[in-house]
Amino acid sequence: MPIAVSVNGLRVRYGPIEALHGVDLEFPAGAVTALIGRNGSGRTTLLNTLAGLVRPVAGTVTWLGEDITTWPADKRARAGVTLIPERGGIFPGLSVADNLTVFANGTDTTGRTQGGDIEPALAAFPVLEARLAQKARTLSGGEQQMLAVSRALLRPAKLLLLDELSQGLAPRIAGRLYEVVADLATADRTVILVEQHTGEALHRAEVVYTLSRGSVTFRGDPTEFRSRPQTTHRT
Ligand SMILES: Nc1ncnc2c1ncn2[C@@H]1O[C@H](COP(=O)(O)OP(=O)(O)OP(=O)(O)O)[C@@H](O)[C@H]1O
Ligand SMILES: [Mg+2]
Repeated sequence: MPIAVSVNGLRVRYGPIEALHGVDLEFPAGAVTALIGRNGSGRTTLLNTLAGLVRPVAGTVTWLGEDITTWPADKRARAGVTLIPERGGIFPGLSVADNLTVFANGTDTTGRTQGGDIEPALAAFPVLEARLAQKARTLSGGEQQMLAVSRALLRPAKLLLLDELSQGLAPRIAGRLYEVVADLATADRTVILVEQHTGEALHRAEVVYTLSRGSVTFRGDPTEFRSRPQTTHRT
């Protein structure tokens, strides 16, 4: 599989705390990669570093052959890097319709307004149609995540970063969300998802990495991950 994104020797510090201790990882193009780890293992730090929200003290981030380590977040976003943050990524005070309109009317790298059609989101998540006039903050947890994922359906995201999408959701809802996410991974779109629990995420991923206290502790595919001894609760 060709590689879309790689990080090399990535070290990230928050003051005296080093959250990533020189991480080397490769993310294949057009595939879903799952990054599994416990609380505090550095998963959000890695996603935020890929999104340009956190600047590493050492190491590089390469995307489609280009060193983007020093690119600011807004430049990455315009070039197609989309982060759906943990329990976030929506405008709680806006209606569902307004959220979708904002997602659909982003600007591209030339600053031109584009898109505008919210239909793809309603087709993927029909329940949102009945909620269009509601404030996003009044949606259920699952509906809020559907709205958050809609951003990726309505924008030409090339690198999609999803932080704990299934947190607190019923397996059926998480399953539907990951079904939509898996469909998003196509030749020119790469998906990296972070989870703590391995269920639905693992089901949809082609590559699995685990992080533990800022270091990579497993690399493989879901079958290898499942057959690894004593893995399930020791990531
Ligand atoms: N802004 C920050 N300032 C100081 N320390 C931070 C900051 N963000 C994260 N950390 C620390 O960095 C380490 C990794 O945190 P990170 O949020 O990346 O982990 P995580 O795997 O996403 O876990 P969780 O989502 O459960 O918080 C932790 O020790 C955390 O306390
Ligand atoms: Mg996190």
